[in-house]
Amino acid sequence: MIVCEIDGEIAGNCQIVFNNKIKTRHRAEVMVGILQKYWGLGIGTAMFEEMIRIAERRQVSQIELGYIEGNERGRRLYEKMDFVQYGERPDAIRFRDGTMQKEILMIRKMHS
Ligand SMILES: CC(C)(COP(=O)(O)OP(=O)(O)OC[C@H]1O[C@@H](n2cnc3c(N)ncnc32)[C@H](O)[C@@H]1OP(=O)(O)O)[C@@H](O)C(=O)NCCC(=O)NCCS
Repeated sequence: MIVCEIDGEIAGNCQIVFNNKIKTRHRAEVMVGILQKYWGLGIGTAMFEEMIRIAERRQVSQIELGYIEGNERGRRLYEKMDFVQYGERPDAIRFRDGTMQKEILMIRKMHS
């Protein structure tokens, strides 16, 4: 996990999760979240650049993520970082009123 701190406040964090199992250790999963008042400052981009560097050092061959449909800001960031959609998980999120939302699944192959 990497944390971004601004004036003593945690502005956001990201995580890259590696697998130990032999058959899945070529894959890693990434997650990111930034407080809304700090959106659009390039923090998300910087976090992805660092996570990609770490993934390269660990020699994984692909990194994966999921986001909830409608998160266009996230999608733009992920596409900029060379992630492509490979699928979607229907009804991944259920709200109290019964409304469902799907999760969009993206992958970035490492170019090594
Ligand atoms: C998605 C998120 C991580 C982006 O972080 P950020 O620090 O705002 O991202 P950046 O400032 O680096 O901007 C990255 C890209 O987002 C896109 N973007 C920026 N402002 C945007 C806007 N107003 N509308 C749409 N896309 C926008 C751009 O493509 C931008 O890249 P560019 O400036 O080079 O064109 C952040 O908004 C966030 O934490 N959102 C809530 C939680 C979340 O969605 N988590 C991930 C999904 S589970």
